[in-house]
Amino acid sequence: MGRLDNKVAIVTGGASGIGEKIVDLFVSEGATVIAADINEAALEKASQKQKVHGMKLNVADDQAWADFAKEVKEKFGRIDVLVNNAGISSEKGYQDITLDDWNKMMAINGFGAFAGIKHVAPIMAEQKAGSIVNISSYTAQIGQGFNHYSASKGAVRAFSKAAATQFGRSGVRVNAVFPGIIETPMTAALTQYKELLNQLVQATPLQRLGQPDDIAKAVLFFASDDSSYVTGAELVIDGGFSAQ
Ligand SMILES: NC(=O)c1ccc[n+]([C@@H]2O[C@H](COP(=O)([O-])OP(=O)(O)OC[C@H]3O[C@@H](n4cnc5c(N)ncnc54)[C@H](O)[C@@H]3O)[C@@H](O)[C@H]2O)c1
Repeated sequence: MGRLDNKVAIVTGGASGIGEKIVDLFVSEGATVIAADINEAALEKASQKQKVHGMKLNVADDQAWADFAKEVKEKFGRIDVLVNNAGISSEKGYQDITLDDWNKMMAINGFGAFAGIKHVAPIMAEQKAGSIVNISSYTAQIGQGFNHYSASKGAVRAFSKAAATQFGRSGVRVNAVFPGIIETPMTAALTQYKELLNQLVQATPLQRLGQPDDIAKAVLFFASDDSSYVTGAELVIDGGFSAQ
């Protein structure tokens, strides 16, 4: 028996990195998974897997979210799990960040997750059950990056708790996960800075970088009924980096 048997789950940014791993783990635990992503080529690949349905979605588009949520509900009958994982990053320092940079980051990382809750939580509330997992970042919790990325992830942290209190009485749980540095296409550029990478590993109590699987397993806990009394919670998964 799987931990997500008969459940319908949406994973945004499900075509790459952490999202792809979450999709695979959810399927192996019995879920039907909608991998929603803006990258159509990667989605096509994801859709070749059994029980994975690739659907194009730009999470920064409010109307696209409304149409998408309606279509998923009509096609699959219900929505049990939403993982707001889609995101972008940036290496820009604070002096180079323009208002356009700021707005784009906030639109995708911030509004993208907010809109997911806005359009999917009411469907879950009607069912009187549902679990939403938001992927924030350890940079939302410590002074690690004075930039628009950290700010967008701080927004996710704040509205995760607010949504948990808003929707708890309707049976909808909302939790947030805070990954440290995880080896995915998003962080691939780091591999050219061997010395920096080595320093990061040395500075991490568990002495390694994270893997998408480390995050996917925690997301599975929040998505499944194993966490049925958990809402508004925050889980940092960074090898102990931010505990120092
Ligand atoms: N990798 C890390 O070190 C790390 C650390 C902390 C948090 N995170 C967060 O984890 C999440 C996944 O990151 P990842 O490392 O797997 O990155 P990734 O780049 O491998 O995957 C991100 C996915 O999001 C999709 N996406 C981007 N913009 C989109 C949009 N507007 N609409 C729909 N989909 C969109 C991309 O196409 C891609 O498939 C992100 O929210 C990221 O900020 C990552």
